[in-house]
Amino acid sequence: MISSYQARCQQRVDAALDALFIAPLAPLERLYQAMRYSVVNGGKRVRPLLVYAACEALGGDVARADGAACAVELIHAYSLVHDDLPAMDDDDLRRGQPTTHIAFDEASAILAGDALQALAFEVLADAQRNPHDAETRLAMIASLGHAAGPAGMVGGQAIDLGSVGIRLDQTALETMHRHKTGALIEASVRLGALASGRADPAALAALRIYARAIGLAFQVQDDILDVESDTATLGKTQGKDQAHDKPTYPSLLGLDEAKAYALKLRDQALLAIANLGESAEPLRALARYIVERRS
Ligand code: IPE
Ligand code: IPE
Ligand code: MG
Ligand code: MG
Ligand code: MG
Repeated sequence: MISSYQARCQQRVDAALDALFIAPLAPLERLYQAMRYSVVNGGKRVRPLLVYAACEALGGDVARADGAACAVELIHAYSLVHDDLPAMDDDDLRRGQPTTHIAFDEASAILAGDALQALAFEVLADAQRNPHDAETRLAMIASLGHAAGPAGMVGGQAIDLGSVGIRLDQTALETMHRHKTGALIEASVRLGALASGRADPAALAALRIYARAIGLAFQVQDDILDVESDTATLGKTQGKDQAHDKPTYPSLLGLDEAKAYALKLRDQALLAIANLGESAEPLRALARYIVERRS
């Protein structure tokens, strides 16, 4: 269930993303088509929503968070395009449509992902699209780079691929999830806080605890939905984790305990931002949404 606040933020980031893909003529037409296909396609936009909500929680203007919102979604979209490749999860359905390598071809999917990643950092560096002083833009670039790279998402994907058929203990599973999914969610909240122009160390610390909790909860819920949802609702093939023998929270703890853990993480997140007041309501709603969502 998406609130009207969430729908408004989705429209906002969708318009900003759309403006990034003005397709040039041949020979680059196909590359831009593959990039657009991978991004402008009805994702939930949870990471941009977190950017906007964190910005607003600290009293910032969301219009100054569009660049950061686009950048985190570009990294996320690229990670999905590559995650779906035959060499990785080998999926043919994403966001209810054929995956990029099916709709185009593998080389186009690899290049589209590469290009989306580069574009994310170009947007953050650009003072027009990301209207902040150089120091703030650099801090955003550093945070997103850390979250996207070997210490974050890519590192988590490497652990994931190396863990097929292996029974990880809960600490190792948590490390994998914090890297592959949690890091980018943490960066989304941090970039939103930086975009507010009012990020003091205490607020950043509270938001970090919030983000770490919902970042892990997000992937726990993704694992749960892979077990108990269906392909039409998810827009991606249900049951792939088990089919590929991936270590997940339901496979380690059972479904009921995995659900209880997701709720516990939500409560940790809510507690961390209890002192932020009324302006943090959208962040609270997102914490609830992340563990209640059905897709
Ligand atoms: C799916 O992310 C991949 C994970 C990191 C778990 P989302 O569930 O946010 O996917 P979209 O963006 O809505 O398609
Ligand atoms: C993907 O995790 C995390 C990424 C960094 C893309 P999954 O492989 O579980 O994501 P889905 O289920 O395919 O969306
Ligand atoms: Mg994967
Ligand atoms: Mg996958
Ligand atoms: Mg999954």
